[in-house]
Amino acid sequence: MTLNRRDFLLGGGVLGALAASGVIVPMAFVLSDNNDGGGNATGATGAAFIDFPRTKVGSLSSLSQTQPAFFDYPFEGQSNVLVKLGQTNPTGVGSDRDVVAYSNLCTHMGCAVIEYNDDSKTLGPCPCHFSTFDLAIAGQVAFGQATQNLPQVHLVVDGDDIFADGVFRLVYGHTNTLDGGTEVAIAGGI
Ligand code: FES
Repeated sequence: MTLNRRDFLLGGGVLGALAASGVIVPMAFVLSDNNDGGGNATGATGAAFIDFPRTKVGSLSSLSQTQPAFFDYPFEGQSNVLVKLGQTNPTGVGSDRDVVAYSNLCTHMGCAVIEYNDDSKTLGPCPCHFSTFDLAIAGQVAFGQATQNLPQVHLVVDGDDIFADGVFRLVYGHTNTLDGGTEVAIAGGI
Protein backbone atom coordinates (compact mmCIF):
# COMPACT_ATOMS: atom_id res chain seq x y z
CA MET A 1 0.00 0.00 0.00
CA THR A 2 1.31 3.42 -0.94
CA LEU A 3 0.12 6.94 -0.40
CA ASN A 4 -1.26 9.13 -3.11
CA ARG A 5 -0.99 12.89 -2.82
CA ARG A 6 -4.36 13.31 -1.18
CA ASP A 7 -3.35 10.76 1.41
CA PHE A 8 -0.05 12.55 1.81
CA LEU A 9 -1.79 15.84 2.54
CA LEU A 10 -4.05 14.19 5.04
CA GLY A 11 -1.19 12.36 6.65
CA GLY A 12 1.13 15.30 6.77
CA GLY A 13 -1.32 18.05 7.54
CA VAL A 14 -4.43 16.82 9.25
CA LEU A 15 -2.74 14.00 11.05
CA GLY A 16 -0.07 16.29 12.39
CA ALA A 17 -2.58 18.80 13.61
CA LEU A 18 -4.74 16.18 15.23
CA ALA A 19 -1.77 14.44 16.75
CA ALA A 20 -0.63 17.74 18.20
CA SER A 21 -4.03 18.15 19.82
CA GLY A 22 -3.87 14.68 21.31
CA VAL A 23 -6.49 13.14 19.00
CA ILE A 24 -5.79 9.56 17.98
CA VAL A 25 -6.32 9.16 14.25
CA PRO A 26 -7.28 5.75 12.82
CA MET A 27 -4.87 4.61 10.15
CA ALA A 28 -7.81 4.10 7.81
CA PHE A 29 -8.24 7.85 7.80
CA VAL A 30 -4.85 8.51 6.34
CA LEU A 31 -4.44 5.49 4.11
CA SER A 32 -6.33 4.48 1.02
CA ASP A 33 -6.06 1.94 -1.73
CA ASN A 34 -6.16 4.61 -4.43
CA ASN A 35 -2.71 4.09 -5.83
CA ASP A 36 -0.96 2.49 -8.72
CA GLY A 37 0.57 -0.24 -6.64
CA GLY A 38 4.05 0.59 -7.78
CA GLY A 39 5.19 2.94 -5.08
CA ASN A 40 4.35 6.01 -7.11
CA ALA A 41 2.12 8.91 -6.24
CA THR A 42 -1.05 9.37 -8.21
CA GLY A 43 -4.26 11.30 -7.85
CA ALA A 44 -5.32 14.82 -6.96
CA THR A 45 -3.03 17.64 -6.06
CA GLY A 46 -3.90 19.64 -2.94
CA ALA A 47 -3.90 23.42 -2.87
CA ALA A 48 -0.91 23.63 -0.57
CA PHE A 49 1.00 21.02 -2.49
CA ILE A 50 3.45 22.29 -5.09
CA ASP A 51 4.57 19.99 -7.88
CA PHE A 52 8.13 20.02 -9.08
CA PRO A 53 10.04 17.82 -11.49
CA ARG A 54 10.56 14.31 -10.29
CA THR A 55 14.16 14.13 -9.20
CA LYS A 56 16.20 11.34 -7.70
CA VAL A 57 17.27 12.29 -4.19
CA GLY A 58 18.60 9.06 -2.75
CA SER A 59 18.45 5.30 -2.62
CA LEU A 60 16.93 2.96 -0.06
CA SER A 61 20.02 0.78 0.17
CA SER A 62 22.28 3.67 1.12
CA LEU A 63 20.08 5.07 3.87
CA SER A 64 21.10 4.57 7.47
CA GLN A 65 18.65 4.88 10.31
CA THR A 66 21.03 6.95 12.39
CA GLN A 67 22.56 9.00 9.62
CA PRO A 68 20.25 11.33 7.66
CA ALA A 69 21.08 12.39 4.13
CA PHE A 70 20.75 15.93 2.82
CA PHE A 71 19.76 17.08 -0.64
CA ASP A 72 18.77 20.30 -2.39
CA TYR A 73 15.23 20.38 -3.77
CA PRO A 74 13.48 21.84 -5.61
CA PHE A 75 15.91 24.73 -5.94
CA GLU A 76 19.65 24.91 -5.45
CA GLY A 77 20.39 25.95 -1.91
CA GLN A 78 17.06 24.73 -0.55
CA SER A 79 18.27 21.99 1.69
CA ASN A 80 16.21 19.01 2.81
CA VAL A 81 16.80 16.06 5.06
CA LEU A 82 16.05 12.46 4.06
CA VAL A 83 15.52 10.18 7.04
CA LYS A 84 14.87 6.48 7.64
CA LEU A 85 12.82 6.66 10.81
CA GLY A 86 13.02 2.96 11.61
CA GLN A 87 9.29 2.91 12.32
CA THR A 88 6.27 2.97 10.06
CA ASN A 89 4.96 6.43 9.34
CA PRO A 90 1.66 7.48 7.68
CA THR A 91 3.62 9.42 5.05
CA GLY A 92 6.61 7.09 4.85
CA VAL A 93 7.77 5.34 1.68
CA GLY A 94 9.85 2.24 1.07
CA SER A 95 9.13 -1.34 2.04
CA ASP A 96 9.03 -0.41 5.71
CA ARG A 97 7.16 2.82 4.99
CA ASP A 98 9.57 4.65 7.22
CA VAL A 99 11.44 6.97 4.84
CA VAL A 100 10.44 10.64 4.94
CA ALA A 101 11.93 13.94 3.83
CA TYR A 102 11.51 17.48 5.06
CA SER A 103 12.96 20.88 4.36
CA ASN A 104 15.62 21.42 6.97
CA LEU A 105 15.39 25.20 6.70
CA CYS A 106 13.98 26.24 10.05
CA THR A 107 10.50 27.74 9.83
CA HIS A 108 11.44 30.38 12.39
CA MET A 109 14.09 32.33 10.48
CA GLY A 110 15.48 29.95 7.93
CA CYS A 111 18.64 28.58 9.52
CA ALA A 112 19.70 25.13 8.35
CA VAL A 113 18.98 22.47 10.96
CA ILE A 114 21.30 19.50 10.59
CA GLU A 115 21.28 17.64 13.91
CA TYR A 116 19.11 14.53 13.92
CA ASN A 117 18.28 12.47 16.98
CA ASP A 118 17.20 8.94 16.07
CA ASP A 119 15.91 8.19 19.58
CA SER A 120 13.36 10.98 19.52
CA LYS A 121 13.05 11.20 15.70
CA THR A 122 13.64 14.91 15.99
CA LEU A 123 15.58 17.37 13.86
CA GLY A 124 17.29 20.00 15.94
CA PRO A 125 18.04 21.94 17.93
CA CYS A 126 18.27 24.67 15.31
CA PRO A 127 21.67 26.35 15.67
CA CYS A 128 20.06 29.80 15.72
CA HIS A 129 17.35 29.67 18.37
CA PHE A 130 17.03 25.98 19.24
CA SER A 131 13.76 25.03 17.56
CA THR A 132 13.35 21.29 17.26
CA PHE A 133 11.02 19.41 14.91
CA ASP A 134 9.41 15.98 15.18
CA LEU A 135 9.94 14.12 11.91
CA ALA A 136 7.67 11.27 13.00
CA ILE A 137 4.72 13.66 13.40
CA ALA A 138 4.56 15.71 10.22
CA GLY A 139 7.59 17.84 11.07
CA GLN A 140 5.73 19.63 13.81
CA VAL A 141 7.50 21.89 16.28
CA ALA A 142 8.57 20.00 19.38
CA PHE A 143 10.41 22.86 21.01
CA GLY A 144 11.48 26.44 20.43
CA GLN A 145 10.63 29.64 18.61
CA ALA A 146 9.23 28.18 15.40
CA THR A 147 5.45 27.93 15.06
CA GLN A 148 5.14 26.14 11.72
CA ASN A 149 5.77 22.54 10.77
CA LEU A 150 8.66 21.87 8.46
CA PRO A 151 7.60 21.64 4.80
CA GLN A 152 7.48 18.01 3.75
CA VAL A 153 8.90 16.68 0.50
CA HIS A 154 6.69 14.18 -1.28
CA LEU A 155 8.64 11.03 -2.10
CA VAL A 156 8.05 8.12 -4.43
CA VAL A 157 10.07 4.93 -4.68
CA ASP A 158 10.97 3.07 -7.84
CA GLY A 159 13.02 -0.01 -7.07
CA ASP A 160 15.90 1.19 -4.92
CA ASP A 161 15.63 4.77 -6.07
CA ILE A 162 13.96 7.52 -4.06
CA PHE A 163 12.50 10.44 -5.98
CA ALA A 164 11.08 13.77 -4.88
CA ASP A 165 8.23 15.23 -6.90
CA GLY A 166 6.76 18.02 -4.83
CA VAL A 167 6.70 19.96 -1.60
CA PHE A 168 3.88 20.36 0.87
CA ARG A 169 3.83 23.72 2.68
CA LEU A 170 5.94 26.75 1.87
CA VAL A 171 9.67 26.70 2.35
CA TYR A 172 10.99 29.49 4.57
CA GLY A 173 11.35 32.77 2.70
CA HIS A 174 8.61 32.06 0.15
CA THR A 175 5.27 33.76 0.61
CA ASN A 176 3.38 32.39 -2.35
CA THR A 177 5.05 29.70 -4.39
CA LEU A 178 8.57 28.47 -4.73
CA ASP A 179 8.95 30.37 -8.00
CA GLY A 180 12.09 32.34 -8.56
CA GLY A 181 14.92 29.92 -7.91
CA THR A 182 17.11 27.70 -10.02
CA GLU A 183 15.75 24.22 -10.04
CA VAL A 184 18.20 21.49 -9.16
CA ALA A 185 19.51 19.52 -12.09
CA ILE A 186 17.42 16.48 -12.85
CA ALA A 187 19.31 13.46 -11.57
CA GLY A 188 17.61 10.32 -12.74
CA GLY A 189 14.26 12.05 -12.88
CA ILE A 190 11.63 11.24 -15.46
S1 FES B 1 15.99 30.14 12.94
FE1 FES B 1 15.65 28.24 13.88
S2 FES B 1 14.91 28.70 15.84
FE2 FES B 1 15.25 30.62 14.92
